[in-house]
Amino acid sequence: MNLDNLVLYDKIHQCVTLSGVAAKKGRHINSQDMGLISEAAMVVDSNSARIVWVGESQGLPENYRQIPNQFTCEGEVWLPELIECHTHLIFAGDRSHDFALRSSGKTYAEIAAEGGGILTTISHTRKATFEELIESAKIEIDRFQKMGVGTIEIKSGYGLSLESELKILKCIQVLQAQVPVQLIPTFMPAHAIPPEYRGKADDYVKLICEEWIPEVASEKLATYFDVFVEDGYFSVSQAEKLCRTAQDHKLQIKIHADQFKSIGGTSLAIKLNAQSVDHLDNINEEDLKALGASNTVAVLCPGASLFTGTPYAPARQLIDSGARVALTTDFNPGTCPSRNLPLMTTLACTQMKMTIAESIAAITYNAAAALGLETQIGSLETGKQFRVCQLKAQSYESLPYCFGELE
Ligand code: NIG
Ligand code: FE
Repeated sequence: MNLDNLVLYDKIHQCVTLSGVAAKKGRHINSQDMGLISEAAMVVDSNSARIVWVGESQGLPENYRQIPNQFTCEGEVWLPELIECHTHLIFAGDRSHDFALRSSGKTYAEIAAEGGGILTTISHTRKATFEELIESAKIEIDRFQKMGVGTIEIKSGYGLSLESELKILKCIQVLQAQVPVQLIPTFMPAHAIPPEYRGKADDYVKLICEEWIPEVASEKLATYFDVFVEDGYFSVSQAEKLCRTAQDHKLQIKIHADQFKSIGGTSLAIKLNAQSVDHLDNINEEDLKALGASNTVAVLCPGASLFTGTPYAPARQLIDSGARVALTTDFNPGTCPSRNLPLMTTLACTQMKMTIAESIAAITYNAAAALGLETQIGSLETGKQFRVCQLKAQSYESLPYCFGELE
């Protein structure tokens, strides 16, 4: 191999490869699975931006010592670049008034029933121009990037008319050419019943199935399709119809389930072999066991629980039952206006009794799995992409410890 195409990073204080997590496909993780290498070296092919070799500096093969392009990384802790696998990042306006109402005792459901909640953001987002949405999304993506995030999933769902849903998805497409972060687009027209279809949810579902999904799929504007399965939003049978149509059009499935009530969204996700099922704060025992035995990734949103004052998902039981657990901010104006993915690891450890190893795997390897990208990113191993989160820290344990700040 021509050494001129290689780059050697040497004397990395700690390199957290997550090799054991990858070997176990993200289940039953313990601290050994972090694949921690102290005083590490990494060789990268600069043409393919892939990792060629990683291990202890001492064990670096002799020929790699001659690589002309070398960097020393003393005092640095390396992790896989963080992955944000669930956001509603494109919207206009804010919902601070919802928060004020919740603070004086109203629930999320009551605010929504009075015409606030998601519908407020929909009316602002429909009015916003394409350029305004691009500008605000760029600011948000930049904030995520400063938190060590290199991949962000973004859902539509604050338009709920074909025109405004397409506007949001096209924003994601245009943004992808302008930002240094990988964006994964998800079509989520079934985020709420739009005002025009109040009391006619089945008609709305039919419209999405017959006209919107075919259009979005033919324009290749989304990788995933998502639906909010919840009382007052979409029933299991409506969601099944939507998801099966989406699958027929080669969109993969994610489902918002069990956020406030358990009405069957999780068993639908498992039945459809969804890539992920997200929230799960109120998952029931039977679904919890079934999820543990399935390949569908359980994506937990502790920031939304913190912000809405509702129960946290039973992360411990999910992990112990064998589930692949990822963490997300669920960044959105209503239930989690935070882009602080590292903070979610702190909440996971203190509020959901996850270990540091589990929480870090949940924003790297398992978050990649929630996006079907775990063979490319999410761990630092030979053949994988060279996408690294570099911290100036004593130890990788400072990621949850620093409590919302990235060193
Ligand atoms: O994931 N659950 C549905 N969607 C968002 C909330 C959206 C909103 O309140 O604007 C969520 O929490
Ligand atoms: Fe969400």
